[in-house]
Amino acid sequence: MKVKVPATTANLGPGFDVFGAALSLYNEFEAEYVPDAKKTYFMLKGVGKKSLPRGEKNLFWQSMQQTFKVLGEDKYNLKNLNITVNTSIPLGGGLGSSASAIVGGIVLANALCANKLDKSQVADLAVKIEGHSDNVIPAVYGGVCICSKDGNHGAVIQLPIPKLKIVLCVPSFELRTKRSRQILPKYVDLQDLVFNTSRVALLTAAFCCSDFALLKTGMQDKVHQPYRGKMIPAMDEVFEAALSAGAYGACLSGSGPTLVAFCSAKDAINVQKSMIKRWKKDSVHAKAYISDFDAKGAITV
Ligand code: HSE
Repeated sequence: MKVKVPATTANLGPGFDVFGAALSLYNEFEAEYVPDAKKTYFMLKGVGKKSLPRGEKNLFWQSMQQTFKVLGEDKYNLKNLNITVNTSIPLGGGLGSSASAIVGGIVLANALCANKLDKSQVADLAVKIEGHSDNVIPAVYGGVCICSKDGNHGAVIQLPIPKLKIVLCVPSFELRTKRSRQILPKYVDLQDLVFNTSRVALLTAAFCCSDFALLKTGMQDKVHQPYRGKMIPAMDEVFEAALSAGAYGACLSGSGPTLVAFCSAKDAINVQKSMIKRWKKDSVHAKAYISDFDAKGAITV
């Protein structure tokens, strides 16, 4: 059984902990049932090959275990499942690599158990494990998602998928989400709240009406980016470089440090070059990807 889970970009600027989108960059998780196997086989491939833990400490495996527990299934363990994890999503970049491991573990364990959980149960369990929803929800559903909570259940609205490319600039340094949340103030200034509320409205209108000119203003934020920007050299200047090269909007991806820009297919290469060049001026070396939106979310392949 094999599942493929997309990378995600959370917040989309002003939509802190609420907006998230799935991208066409994937991690793959595979489990083969070998009833008589005597030892653990846990293979890591791709970008996480050297740094991710194998076995019990691996987040993907922990999520599988938790799912088996929820489903009351005790047939599978690390001896009788051969695990292969192939990662393409950069680690610690703000592109939902942890969310993909959590969603991959749940979806794969669920598939081994005849898909007893439906999609919304998969999403609820993923939110419970991850703590916040704006990476795991688009990783489950695909597309551009508005994630909110209704009592104990996640409520998801999917916006139309925009005909845009997403340029991802992933710098060579990592930023852990925990640290990147700790530095945020506990309270939001009322004026900043009004600022962000208006931007979230513009962002939603931009996607619903395919009026992408609204994204320049609609991706501005005063709630988290100004604080996180202190740990990311030339963040605002890289956004400016993207906009000058023709991007509709640009923002921090999740808790960073990856910066993303949304643009037409014809401008994507130019936007990518300009962002990389501007960062280089501040000695930041970044790898760039040009991505599409993923429409399906996690799937078995
Ligand atoms: N919304 C979360 C944050 C996403 O910005 O901290 C974490 O990737």
